[in-house]
Amino acid sequence: MAKEINTIGVLTSGGDAPGMNAAIRAVVREAIAKGRKVKGIKRGYAGLLQEEIVDMDAKSVSDIIQRGGTILQTARCSEFRTEEGQRKGAEICHKHGIDGVIVIGGDGSFKGAQKLANYGVNTIGLPGTIDLDIACTEYTIGFDTAVNTAMEAIDKVRDTSTSHERCSIIEVMGRGAGYIALWCGIANGAEDILLPERYDYDEQKIANHIIENRKRGKQHHIIVNAEGIGHSASMAKRIEAATGVETRATILGHMQRGGSPTCKDRVYASTMGAIAVDLLCEGKTNRIVGYLNGHFSDYDIDEALAMEKHIWDYQYEISRNLSL
Ligand code: ADP
Ligand code: F6P
Repeated sequence: MAKEINTIGVLTSGGDAPGMNAAIRAVVREAIAKGRKVKGIKRGYAGLLQEEIVDMDAKSVSDIIQRGGTILQTARCSEFRTEEGQRKGAEICHKHGIDGVIVIGGDGSFKGAQKLANYGVNTIGLPGTIDLDIACTEYTIGFDTAVNTAMEAIDKVRDTSTSHERCSIIEVMGRGAGYIALWCGIANGAEDILLPERYDYDEQKIANHIIENRKRGKQHHIIVNAEGIGHSASMAKRIEAATGVETRATILGHMQRGGSPTCKDRVYASTMGAIAVDLLCEGKTNRIVGYLNGHFSDYDIDEALAMEKHIWDYQYEISRNLSL
């Protein structure tokens, strides 16, 4: 028989992402609408182990849907990677009467959720990361806001790059994944897009491309470089030496993680938050909510973590043609 869920815990873990607040709000309000109680667990698994647990009601999530960051705050917690930490976390959930936990975070956070489920705490994961690097879903909470923020910043760099007839290397986040770089590269009409999944480390090829474009009258050369490749500042020096074209590096950094979420992030995060509550109420556990092929669905965490995600080759190939 499915476990009865009376009290739901919610936490955010790993890097924050715009839209996490919309998801928290949806969890709290959908749970209340379904007659359940909600407890907010602060600072991810670190706060769980410190018993930083607060009662939440409809009012605790008012005026947050439009705010970036996470009102529950977030953390990375090495203790929770240990069996002892995981057992302690589950015991604390039992002690506080938490029957199910909704974990909003990335792959690492889902591994933690999987462990909690093994210790008898029903868990549902929501994909919350700007990196879009979760295989079972085409959408992650925060990606849309992050790429729009980065896109606007790159447009600004492009203005000054054109005025000065420079080459600009702009480094975007994404950890080991190139999705932010690819989307911004296409959206900003970058001449080169460097993705960890594809880069061949041939800087001479980039230098030749810049020189060819100069001959064809291009006044700027935008290179979007993914964080997973990094080293933008030293790359800029080498490119300038190889081409004679003044080159500057800009690292966008954490500004990509902040700011008011886009409409898409608010609506999708809200929908996913409500689905997570409904799944817990149905007695489901060890699942991740995703969005694939136009539908929201849920996946077994073990299966989802074993899935692989790939850059869409066609999109990468055409990006070069589009910046001719
Ligand atoms: P993200 O969730 O964005 O991928 P991290 O990889 O930093 O971010 O993971 C967030 C937290 O999830 C970690 O600090 C840790 O507490 C927990 N976590 C990560 N991996 C594991 C694991 N293998 N087992 C248990 N907990 C984990
Ligand atoms: O996972 C989100 C992310 O912003 C990555 O793109 C980046 O590599 C990482 O987090 C940065 O983490 P921190 O905030 O610890 O510097």
